Amino acid sequence: MAIPVTLIPGDGVGPSIASATVRVLEATGAVFEWDRQLAGAAAVVRYNEPMPDATLDSIKRTRLALKGPLETPVGGGYRSVTVALRKTFDLYANVRPAMTIVPGGRYEDVDIVLIRENTEGLYSGVEHYIAIGGDPKAAAESIAIVTRLGSERVIRYAFEYALAHGRSKVTVVHKANILKFTSGLFLEVGRDVAREYAGRVAFDERIVDAAAMQLVIKPEMFDVVVTTNLFGDILSDLVSGLVGGLGLSPGANIGDNAAIFEAVHGTAPDIAGLDLANPGALLLAGCLMLDHIGELEKATRIRTALEQTIRDGVRTRDLGGTAGTEEFTDAIIARL
Ligand code: NAI
Repeated sequence: MAIPVTLIPGDGVGPSIASATVRVLEATGAVFEWDRQLAGAAAVVRYNEPMPDATLDSIKRTRLALKGPLETPVGGGYRSVTVALRKTFDLYANVRPAMTIVPGGRYEDVDIVLIRENTEGLYSGVEHYIAIGGDPKAAAESIAIVTRLGSERVIRYAFEYALAHGRSKVTVVHKANILKFTSGLFLEVGRDVAREYAGRVAFDERIVDAAAMQLVIKPEMFDVVVTTNLFGDILSDLVSGLVGGLGLSPGANIGDNAAIFEAVHGTAPDIAGLDLANPGALLLAGCLMLDHIGELEKATRIRTALEQTIRDGVRTRDLGGTAGTEEFTDAIIARL
């Protein structure tokens, strides 16, 4: 049976990497019913609205979306659609796997899945200035909101993810020694949830600054990592850096009612329309989507074919090669 998925090709290089991704996904024999929708700059051109109702309605119906990068104007203009989608659908877990694919980098065996709480913490948006004397911006405050429910659902997701993917350990990253209330609550919930999984998934806890250092010195210590919003934002790019940057970094945003899969990189306006974009990150996001719907075997086939293509020296320019988007995609399909 065809699986309905909302496909948002996105802006810049989005349409070309989205069509490459669709070609590879379908080459595995997976059957999708793609509902193509617009968001970002393409939607502004068509509907004068960056996040049209038609797109939201489609995601409500399919509960699955594969999304290319969307342009966000700097300074004025509309707010990030990517962030708005996370809020609209309460996508509380941001999943960022980082695995060594390109050989010869600084680290050979990185295989970490970083799970970031995506809805609260210091990114709750509760911020204000305090006027003192004649200065309207004499001070500024941001309030970090951490709830038991918000912490529990993302930590539980991390443990369930570990079980579903045969992973052995979950590390809770925190700063509870200083932020005794907010980070303290997150850690307390982490310890509680970990007890339920004792004997099935190992538990570890690390203070964020030490974790950052250990991620760089001994990344093999880590398996699944779960942390609050700000720490997760920073550490997820750190782990991407361990495996050679954003070119092969996918991300998933998971909620109870919808899940949106995307490349971590942006619209790459400098190379849009030139057949130079690396479709790898969006393709790996497609693999996360396959994992999410239980098609683990097809996802593994694609990852193996992508890895083989790169090892065989067929690479896009950002990976040090000369292949265009189409040639690279054909090479992956040939190796499936
Ligand atoms: P960017 O990720 O688009 O580009 C940074 C550099 O990486 C550029 O040199 C680009 O050519 C290269 N690059 C990116 N993706 C590539 C790919 N698939 N293959 C080969 N090279 C690639 O970041 P930038 O320039 O900061 O942002 C451009 C636009 O993208 C902005 O409007 C920004 O708001 C948006 N953006 C959207 C995101 C999303 O929708 N998830 C995430 C990040 C940025």
